[in-house]
Amino acid sequence: MAKKVVVLGGDGIGPEVTHAAAHILTEAGFGLDLQTPPCGEKVLEEFGTALPDETRESCGEADAILFGATHEASVIIMAYLRYVLKTYANVRPLKYYVGSSSPLANPENIDFVVVRENLEGMYPGREGDLSDIAEAMPDYRDLLGKKFEDLGEGKFAIRVITKEGSDRIAKFACELARMRKKAGYPGKLTCVTKQNMLRQSCGLFRQRVEETLKEYPELDYEHFYVDDMARRLVRFPREMDVVVTSNMFGDILSDLGAEVVGGLGIAPSGCYGDRVSYFESVHGSAPDIAGQGIANPTATILSAAMMLDHLGMESEARALEKAVAEVYRKGDTLTPDQGGSATTTEFAEAVLREIG
Ligand code: NAI
Ligand code: MG
Repeated sequence: MAKKVVVLGGDGIGPEVTHAAAHILTEAGFGLDLQTPPCGEKVLEEFGTALPDETRESCGEADAILFGATHEASVIIMAYLRYVLKTYANVRPLKYYVGSSSPLANPENIDFVVVRENLEGMYPGREGDLSDIAEAMPDYRDLLGKKFEDLGEGKFAIRVITKEGSDRIAKFACELARMRKKAGYPGKLTCVTKQNMLRQSCGLFRQRVEETLKEYPELDYEHFYVDDMARRLVRFPREMDVVVTSNMFGDILSDLGAEVVGGLGIAPSGCYGDRVSYFESVHGSAPDIAGQGIANPTATILSAAMMLDHLGMESEARALEKAVAEVYRKGDTLTPDQGGSATTTEFAEAVLREIG
């Protein structure tokens, strides 16, 4: 039976890039059952919400979801996809395709993956007034011995790291590193924290990763602080294989990694849960270029390739990725962010021609 895929465009360039990807999936004859229920800012007035009930229902019954991006106004879509569907593992492959516009002099063979814990840490924002937390925790003292009431007027944000959440993402990352090792990758896990300052929360995350690793003796392991890691991703990106980190660090480092391999327009991701998983670009709704038909759909097309893998359609996934790589190698149908002058549609047509 055809796999059911729900396509949610969202806002800004979201609908433009998901439309391009869905067009390829359909025209390539991959035999998916693609559905596009209403969502995003444009349906707010009609339905009173950016995520109508019927759309939620379709998502709940889907084999996978392909998502574009949202503005802050319809953040309810992202909240649903992450927190309701409990998609805890955000996998962001950062791979250089020959012909893409990396700022590095020599980006060849960069090919690593950031595994970002997707549900904990600093997101969703748990924030408030310092005066409220001073009242709730009158005796609490920070590393310097200060109480909240000593800090004056201001705001706080809470970072939550649980043992269960850390174990879950650690296992996911180890399994991925094991799988990649079997496919010829180095088989190395790099854990990223800021344990020197966040001793308890980062300490727990790191400890759970290292505990989990005991079950994976074939994997190499290293740990870096997040500031050092940012520099390493620019200087030594080829030394990375699988990077595991908490939510906000992963969010930031994967944008950095995306730029290193050629820009936000080409970085895909998958958000995996125990039941439904969804696939989306790393980038957002890019309001500055929305409506012009020039958004680069590569990130969403490569996210669709990750989705095909997830659906057990490996040969289709490889055909799609190979076609994208070939368009970059030829270099004559690239979008403006990659130094070309092709439209979103022209890029998608070029990918289709390569699939043949
Ligand atoms: P952004 O990723 O939307 O854009 C950053 C820059 O990259 C812009 O100059 C944009 O034109 C460019 N860019 C992004 N994707 C591109 C593509 N496919 N082709 C060509 N150029 C591309 O990030 P920004 O500007 O910080 O946020 C814009 C909105 O997106 C905000 O409302 C933000 O909350 C939202 N956002 C949503 C995400 C999601 O839905 N998953 C993720 C990140 C941001
Ligand atoms: Mg981000």
